Amino acid sequence: MADGRKALVTGGAGFIGSHMVDRLLELEYDVVIMDNLSTGKIKNLNPEAVFHHTDITQKTMGDIIQREQPDLVFHMAAQTSVTESTKNPIDDTNSNVAGTLRVLEASRRVGVEKIIYSCTGGALYGDPKTTPCMDDTVPAPVSPYGMSKWIAEQYMEFYYRQYRLNFTSLRYGNVYGPRQDPNGEAGVIAIFCQSMLDGKQPQIYGDGTQERDFISVLDVVEANIAAIDCGDGKTFNIATSDATSVNQIFEMIRNITGYKWPPLHAPQRTGEVYKIALDWSRAAKDLDWSPKISLEEGLQMTVDYFKTGIESSRSQTG
Ligand SMILES: NC(=O)c1ccc[n+]([C@@H]2O[C@H](COP(=O)([O-])OP(=O)(O)OC[C@H]3O[C@@H](n4cnc5c(N)ncnc54)[C@H](O)[C@@H]3O)[C@@H](O)[C@H]2O)c1
Repeated sequence: MADGRKALVTGGAGFIGSHMVDRLLELEYDVVIMDNLSTGKIKNLNPEAVFHHTDITQKTMGDIIQREQPDLVFHMAAQTSVTESTKNPIDDTNSNVAGTLRVLEASRRVGVEKIIYSCTGGALYGDPKTTPCMDDTVPAPVSPYGMSKWIAEQYMEFYYRQYRLNFTSLRYGNVYGPRQDPNGEAGVIAIFCQSMLDGKQPQIYGDGTQERDFISVLDVVEANIAAIDCGDGKTFNIATSDATSVNQIFEMIRNITGYKWPPLHAPQRTGEVYKIALDWSRAAKDLDWSPKISLEEGLQMTVDYFKTGIESSRSQTG
C-alpha cells in the first residue's frame, strides 16, 4: 500500500500526529516528522521516523521539505488551544494560517501528491441551531482558533484550484484517546481520567450540560488513511453524530475509575461552543469510513492508558 512512498506528518510529536506516525509506519511508509515541540512530546516520537525539530512558521521548513521530498503530507501542526487563540489571536494566526501557507507553498514546489489537513468540526460551525451539522453547513466559527483553522482550509482549496495541489480536509469532532495531554486546557476526557485516577476533583466549566461529539483518535487516524486515495478536493466531518454532555462523560469515567466525589464547577470559558454534533455521512460515502470505536470502549481504553501507561488500543489499528 505504501509503495515506497514518503509521508510527512507535521505535528507528529503531538497527540493525534504521533498516532498517525505509528499507523503510517505500520503500513510501511517512510515517515518524516516536523514539530516544534510546543505541545508535542519527545516521548511521543516514534524512533523509526525521521524527526526535524522545526517550526512551520520558519522559512527553514521549506528547505526541509525540499530535502525530504515527501509524497504525502499530513498537516497536523497547529496552535490548538481555543483559550490561547482568544488571548493571542496573532500568534494563533501565525501558526495556523501563515504556517499552513508555508506548508502549502513548499509542498507545491516539490510536487507533493496530496495534503491531508486536520481541520476542526467542533470549532467550525459556531453554535448551530440544529445538530448534527452537515458537511455543507455554513461555517460560523466563534473563536480565533475556529477562524484560523477555517481560513487554512480555504487556502487548501485555493492551492487545489490554482495549482492542482491535491488535498482532503478532515473536520474532526472532539478527539480523545491515549496520549492526549491531561494538563492542557482541552481534552476533557484526558483531564477527567487523570484527575479521577489521582483522586483529584475534576473541574467542569459551566453547568456541564454543554455537548460535544467525541471521536476516538484511532478512528481519526483511519479517516486520514482512507483520505490518501479518496475524497480529493473535498472536506469531511469526522465524528460520530452523537452529542454527549460533559456531565455524561464525567459519570461514565466515574463508573470506570470508581471515583466517588462530585465535580467542581468553574465559569464557562470564552469562545466555547455550547452544543455540537457532526454528521459524517459524506465520509461514509466518499471515504468508505465510519467510526468503529464506541464511546464506552474508547473511554475504557483511555482510562487503561492513564492507569498503566500501556495502550490496549494499539492492537485495534493493526
Ligand atoms: N484534539 C482535537 O480534539 C482536535 C479536534 C479538531 C482538530 N484538531 C486538529 O488536529 C491537529 C492535532 O491536534 P492535537 O490534538 O494532536 O494537538 P497537539 O497539540 O497534541 O498537536 C499539535 C502538534 O503540533 C506541534 N506544533 C504546534 N505549532 C507548531 C509549529 N508552529 N511548528 C511545528 N509544530 C507545531 C505541537 O508541538 C504538537 O506536537 C491540530 O491541527 C488540531 O487543530 C484536533
